[in-house]
Amino acid sequence: MAVERTLGVIKPDALEKGVIGEILKRAEDANLKMIACKMAKLDKKRAEGFYAVHKGKSFFDSLVTFMTSGPVLIFTLEGENAIKTWRGVMGATNPEEAADGTIRKDFGTNVERNAVHGSDAPETAKFEVSYFFENHELVSYEWM
Ligand code: CMP
Repeated sequence: MAVERTLGVIKPDALEKGVIGEILKRAEDANLKMIACKMAKLDKKRAEGFYAVHKGKSFFDSLVTFMTSGPVLIFTLEGENAIKTWRGVMGATNPEEAADGTIRKDFGTNVERNAVHGSDAPETAKFEVSYFFENHELVSYEWM
């Protein structure tokens, strides 16, 4: 299995709940290593650019309003099969459909306020990681 990178975001609803630690613990328990991390308060342009693939969809404007409503924690995870692994840890987009023990089941409220984001494919991950991080901000664990 290949070592991959994926972009994760802890959304404003989860920050408001104060569950950063609990969410990141689940990433670590899944053997995903954090190789970059930053807090941000996204402005409209940055949120729209990040979610550009959803432009034109009925939920786009509301999603951008939500994602700019408070701070977010943005990070890059690295590990075997990282994209699929992180998506499994997050659970289904809609918390009502998410499996027991997943982040969205435990901390999400509805399909919009769903606590976390994760890239859905290798090409998306590449775009999303580079959208928020410069190459030099991604650390290497090769010395360990
Ligand atoms: P995320 O994984 O960040 O990717 C797109 C986001 O759009 C999704 O999580 C949800 O927060 C939000 N969203 C709001 N409504 C919908 C919907 N009907 N279907 C999918 N995503 C939605």
